[in-house]
Amino acid sequence: MIIYKFLRHMKKTLFTKIIGCELPIQLAGMPGINTVYLAAAVSSSGGLGMISGTQMDPDFLLDTIDNLKELTSQPFGVNFLMPFLDRDCVKVAASKSKLVEFFYGDPDPSLIEMVHDGGALACWQIGSLKEAIQAEEAGCDLIVAQGTQAGGHVRGDAKLLPLLSEVLENVNIPIIAAGGIGTTKDIAGVLNAGAAAARVGTRFLAARESGAHPKYIQALIDAKAEDTVLTETFSVGWPHAHHRVLKSCVSAVNSFEGEIVSERDLAGVKKPILKGSIALPTINTTGNIEAMALYAGESVGAVDSIKSAADIMSELIKEI
Ligand SMILES: Cc1cc2nc3c(=O)[nH]c(=O)nc-3n(C[C@H](O)[C@H](O)[C@H](O)COP(=O)(O)O)c2cc1C
Repeated sequence: MIIYKFLRHMKKTLFTKIIGCELPIQLAGMPGINTVYLAAAVSSSGGLGMISGTQMDPDFLLDTIDNLKELTSQPFGVNFLMPFLDRDCVKVAASKSKLVEFFYGDPDPSLIEMVHDGGALACWQIGSLKEAIQAEEAGCDLIVAQGTQAGGHVRGDAKLLPLLSEVLENVNIPIIAAGGIGTTKDIAGVLNAGAAAARVGTRFLAARESGAHPKYIQALIDAKAEDTVLTETFSVGWPHAHHRVLKSCVSAVNSFEGEIVSERDLAGVKKPILKGSIALPTINTTGNIEAMALYAGESVGAVDSIKSAADIMSELIKEI
């Protein structure tokens, strides 16, 4: 009941104001997972839908954004992973979307300037207070504070609430909270703590519109928070970067013998995926799915079945 009342007041935040959306919820950027259908469904449900621009060529990104715009008239954003950055893609994203966002590299003022020149807002996902201050100084309009409960690659060493609290004390731009957020109660918690929005990744992996392989989705449905682990097991293609995955895939890959764990079909061309690769299993993947990187946050306990993204959004905000 307390959550009910609280969220009703907290629905409008600095995030909804500057993005121009209804709800303080952002879909996390997740390559291979965030189809245009998933991003569009989140945006059309009042949140901020995101696509990933990582490892795309600029023409393909342009087509993807055009497809997304056919599906929703609401604001959306594009996420980039710094270790794989293509600046031409950033230019495309900046001219076509509301928000361009970066993760896993030092905040770079020249990129922020490029985003602003294109007409978009700039955001950086950070994992420490130092990085949050750098992002603000680099000219970001927003930051995402990511706690270690997060699924996928994890930037820092602090849990979400302590990180959020110290960033709020020292930074003046709006902060989106990320890591382990899977329920309305979690969202109320971070808004109550001072965040302008909640960023949700794992909860959307099992959306009907997600690009995740069915076996990956089933493993998520079967898992609880304690079934995840922070590790460097899946480092082929991106070394020395911590990530949170299901424990089951760590044991599966450790006992897998052979070099090629699976194959991904990319427009009719089969691409082998090496044992220990960072690649996650998409619907176009065949092979030993269980031994691939099954990224999952501590929010995985909230994933209980396959639902449409619109239904997940209404569950997340049902008490707002
Ligand atoms: C499958 C998966 C892929 C991810 N890929 C990215 C990415 O490419 N860029 C990024 O900024 N964050 C990425 N993340 C991290 C999210 O931005 C976010 O911090 C995380 O999902 C929040 O925790 P949650 O999964 O418990 O909601 C990914 C997360 C997952 C689960």
